[in-house]
Amino acid sequence: MEDLYKEGKVRAIGVANFQPDRLIDLIINNEIVPAINQIETHPFHQQTETQKFLQENNVQIESWGPFAEGKNNMFQNELLISIAQKYDKSVARVILRWLTQRGVIVIPKSLRKERIVENFNIFDFELSAEDMEAIVSLDTKKSLFFDHRDPEMVKWLGNRKLDV
Ligand SMILES: NC(=O)c1ccc[n+]([C@@H]2O[C@H](COP(=O)([O-])OP(=O)(O)OC[C@H]3O[C@@H](n4cnc5c(N)ncnc54)[C@H](OP(=O)(O)O)[C@@H]3O)[C@@H](O)[C@H]2O)c1
Repeated sequence: MEDLYKEGKVRAIGVANFQPDRLIDLIINNEIVPAINQIETHPFHQQTETQKFLQENNVQIESWGPFAEGKNNMFQNELLISIAQKYDKSVARVILRWLTQRGVIVIPKSLRKERIVENFNIFDFELSAEDMEAIVSLDTKKSLFFDHRDPEMVKWLGNRKLDV
């Protein structure tokens, strides 16, 4: 990847699911600092400390699964619904706005055109500091999927054939 970067064939190098220990190992043993690290980030797993670490090391945080794929009844959460009603926006927009206001890049996925349009539409309102803070209370500091630091999981992921 560094060779391609130096040849000008790629403009940036990004990584995914690098926890701080792995990321710093990568940084100190290579020349190019990754531009971005894509990690599970949503109201139930907020990654606040990891975000700070990434900022300190000039790596942009990007959220995969900003809705946690709807797990934990994300779209039915009472606090998120009450904030959404206050701004007359959907829960989805509140979540994406909250992440964006935190400086987190979001990549939500939807198979429905109207939702893709809805998910882009988050730049016509701003959450108050009070509402930003209220959402912090939802943090469980745990993945809703799996632990990327579990050796068995790392082995399983490493043995999968990439379908790219
Ligand atoms: N790097 C990694 O390890 C990793 C891991 C997982 C995912 N990702 C990436 O992250 C991106 C998003 O991932 P994801 O699909 O896992 O999670 P997600 O965006 O959190 O959730 C997608 C789910 O939310 C629903 N949804 C989307 N917009 C909605 C809206 N406005 N209102 C209500 N429901 C809505 C979708 O349903 P409908 O389709 O029916 O709208 C779908 O069920 C993808 O690009 C994926 O490739 C990366």
